[in-house]
Amino acid sequence: MIKNLEINERLEKYISDHSYNLHPIQKEILNHNDQLGDIKKMQISISQGYFFQLFIKNNNIKNILEIGTFTGYSALSMALVVPEEGNVTCLDINAETTEKAKKFFKKANLEKKIKVILAPALQSLKKLKNEKKIFDMIFIDADKENYINYFNHSIELLKNKGFILVDNVLWKGDVADPNKNDNLTNIIREFNSFIKKDDRVDKTILPLGDGITICRKI
Ligand SMILES: C[S@@+](CC[C@H](N)C(=O)[O-])C[C@H]1O[C@@H](n2cnc3c(N)ncnc32)[C@H](O)[C@@H]1O
Repeated sequence: MIKNLEINERLEKYISDHSYNLHPIQKEILNHNDQLGDIKKMQISISQGYFFQLFIKNNNIKNILEIGTFTGYSALSMALVVPEEGNVTCLDINAETTEKAKKFFKKANLEKKIKVILAPALQSLKKLKNEKKIFDMIFIDADKENYINYFNHSIELLKNKGFILVDNVLWKGDVADPNKNDNLTNIIREFNSFIKKDDRVDKTILPLGDGITICRKI
C-alpha cells in the first residue's frame, strides 16, 4: 500500500476541488501571485492555508502573529476564520508586497482585523515584547537565517499551550539528502535540530506544502 504520495500541481488541484471553497479574495491573491513568476513559491500552498483554517477553528485561536506576509495569502486565510474579537498582526519588510497585501485585506473587509507592521521583523518582535503582547498562535515564514531568533522571540510572545507553526522545514526534501549542502539547506537543518532539542515545546513535522513544524508551548 502507498503510504506517502508525491503531491504535484495536478493532485493539489484535485485536492482543492474536492475539499474547500476559496473566498473570492483568496482566489484574487492566487491569481495575482501566479503572475509574479518564480517568487510565487513564497506563498503557502492552498492545502496549507486550509489546514491553518481548520487548526485555528479547532484550537479556538483568536490572536495570531505572522512573521513574513508577502502578498497576504496566509494572513488573509487566517483572518477569515478568527472570531469577531480576534486579529492577525503581520510583520514584513517589503513595502511593495505589503502595500499589495493591504489592498487585498481592505477588499475583503478585513482591514480592521489585520494589523500590518512594515519593519525588520526582529525590530518589531522586540517592540511587541516591550508592549507585553501575547499571542495564541505565531506563524514563522520569513528569512530562514533568522528562524532560530524568530523562534526564541516567539516563545516569549506566546501564551502557555499556544502554538508556533514554521514553514519550509523540509526545504523541497533537501534536508534529508546528504548530497545537498548549500547554505540555506544547512540553515534549515540547524533549525530543525535546534527545535528537536528544545524542551520548551512539544513538536512534530507535517509533510504539508514544503513541510510545517507545529510546536505547542509546554
Ligand atoms: C515566504 S514569504 C511569506 C509568504 C506568506 N506567508 C504567504 O503565504 O504568502 C517571506 C516574506 O518574509 C519577508 N521578510 C524577509 N526578511 C524579512 C525581515 N528581516 N523582516 C521582515 N520580513 C522579512 C519577505 O519580504 C517576504 O514577504
